[in-house]
Amino acid sequence: MRQATDLSSFQEHIRNLQAEINEGLRTLSLADRPDYLYTPVKYVLKGTGKRLRPILVHLVGETFSADPEDLLHAGLAVELLHNFTLVHDDIMDADSTRHGQPTVHEKWDESTAILAGDGIYALGQLLISRVKINTLQAIQAFNIATLMVCEGQAYDKEFEHDHNISLDQYFTMIEKKTGWLIGLCAEIGGILGDQNEEVRSHLRSYGLNLGKVFQIQDDILEVYGNEKSMGKSLGSDLVAGKQTVLTVLARELFPAEWAGYWQKIQQLEIDKALSELRGYLEEKKILQRAKELVDTYNERAREDLKSALGERRHILMEFTDMVVNRKK
Ligand code: IPE
Ligand code: IPE
Ligand code: MG
Ligand code: MG
Repeated sequence: MRQATDLSSFQEHIRNLQAEINEGLRTLSLADRPDYLYTPVKYVLKGTGKRLRPILVHLVGETFSADPEDLLHAGLAVELLHNFTLVHDDIMDADSTRHGQPTVHEKWDESTAILAGDGIYALGQLLISRVKINTLQAIQAFNIATLMVCEGQAYDKEFEHDHNISLDQYFTMIEKKTGWLIGLCAEIGGILGDQNEEVRSHLRSYGLNLGKVFQIQDDILEVYGNEKSMGKSLGSDLVAGKQTVLTVLARELFPAEWAGYWQKIQQLEIDKALSELRGYLEEKKILQRAKELVDTYNERAREDLKSALGERRHILMEFTDMVVNRKK
C-alpha cells in the first residue's frame, strides 16, 4: 500500500487499513458448530474496535517493505489476541458493555465467555504461525507478550482496593497489561521486515511507551469520556477499586486528604460520584498532572521512533499523534 505523505492521505491510509482488517476478520474461515463456541466468537469479531494494533503492525512493516500477506496475517493475529484479552478482561472487571454491545459473559454467561476467549486466542496462534519471514521469532514474540499481559492483568487484580500502591507500581502494571501488546505490534512489524535486534528493541520500547500513554488516557477517559462514543461501561474502575493514574496521583499528592475523600465518594451513586470526582481532580490539578505524564511518555515514544526508524519515522509520528489525541 502507498505511503502517506500528508494528513489527509494518512487518514485515508488508516481507513483503508481498517477496512482491510475488518474484511480479514469477516472472512476468517470458521466452522458453524458447535454453536456454543462459534456464535460468541463471531459476535466478538463483528465488534467495532478501532483496530489500532493491526494498523501499527502494518505501518511499521510497510516502512521496511515487509510482505503484505505476512502483515495481514500478523495484524489479524494481534487483533485476535487483543479481543481475547478483552473478553476475559470484561469477566475479570465485571463489565457489561463493550463495543456498544453487551459483553459476552453478559449476553451469554461466564463459561461461554471463557471458552470464546480461548478459541479466539487459538485462532490468533494459528494466524501468527502462518507468517513466512522469521516465523519462529514472530511466534515467540507473540507468546512472550501474551504472558506479559497476563502478568499485568494479575497485578491489576492484586492491586484492587490496595491503598499502598505507588506510581511506580502503577507503571509496572500498565506497561505489562497494555504496553506489551502494543510493543509486540511494533516489534512484529520489525520482525516481518527482517530487522536486527537493535531496531526491534527500539520498536518494542516505542510500543511500551505508547502503551503507557494509551492506558493513562484510558484511565482519564473512564472518568471524563463519553460512554456512548467509547462503547464501553465507564466508571467501573471506581466501583472495583482499581488503581488508575488519577487515584494513584491523588493519593501521592494529597495523602492526608485523599483517603477520607475517597471513602466519601464511594458511598455515592456512580453518576454523582463521577461528577464530584471530575471537579475535585481538576481543582487539585491532578488531571493536569496526569496529562503531563501523557506528554512525558509521548516524548519518549517519539525518541524511540527516531532511534528505530530515523528519517523514515514520519508516518509513525502521525500514528502516534492519532493515538495521543484519541477521544475514544
Ligand atoms: C482497550 O483497547 C483496552 C485497553 C488497553 C485500554 P482499545 O481501546 O484499543 O480497544 P478497541 O478499539 O475497542 O478494540
Ligand atoms: C486493559 O484493561 C488491558 C487489557 C484488556 C488486557 P482495562 O480493564 O483497563 O481496559 P478497559 O477499560 O476494560 O477497556
Ligand atoms: Mg476492563
Ligand atoms: Mg481490566
